[in-house]
Amino acid sequence: MTEEHFTYLAKGVADTERLAAALAARSSAGSVIVLDGELGAGKTAFSKAFARHLGVEGVVNSPTFTLIKEYEGRLPLYHMDVYRIDEDEAGELGLDEYFYGTGVCLVEWGSLIPSLLPEERLHIVIEATALPDERLIHLTGCGEVYGEWCRSLRENGVE
Ligand SMILES: Nc1ncnc2c1ncn2[C@@H]1O[C@H](COP(=O)(O)OP(=O)(O)OP(=O)(O)O)[C@@H](O)[C@H]1O
Ligand SMILES: [Mg+2]
Repeated sequence: MTEEHFTYLAKGVADTERLAAALAARSSAGSVIVLDGELGAGKTAFSKAFARHLGVEGVVNSPTFTLIKEYEGRLPLYHMDVYRIDEDEAGELGLDEYFYGTGVCLVEWGSLIPSLLPEERLHIVIEATALPDERLIHLTGCGEVYGEWCRSLRENGVE
């Protein structure tokens, strides 16, 4: 599987939102974006902006207690947070139906369920820096499609 990398320095939440917008624009049916990073890194902040730019109206909250929330935008959006379940439990949720469905999947804490994730995906790790509003956002594009997302962002900037 080909892998491409791109690291983005977000100087504030607006930059994180700009990246989310660029990725929402590239998304299509079956897109899978996995989000990792410590508590408070900005996974849900990213997801809220992503949803807005996918055309979802209304409030998008962390689905920590519901595991999966569905929204309607330009495409269906499946927002998952698997922080509170283990891989066996997650396996019983039938996530493939979402991953290989007609919508876009955002998976917060996806690294906790490695065996359940599609191989082809955009994997994002959000890392805090010494500055309170700054984040290093590490993108790994696994497979041709997501590799191209990373290449285009690297070469053309986040737009
Ligand atoms: N550059 C940035 N990118 C993202 N969030 C930022 C940034 N700067 C400041 N923040 C703030 O950091 C907080 C991130 O919280 P958020 O709920 O998105 O984290 P999370 O990774 O989803 O945490 P959890 O694992 O607890 O769900 C928000 O209050 C957000 O406004
Ligand atoms: Mg969250």
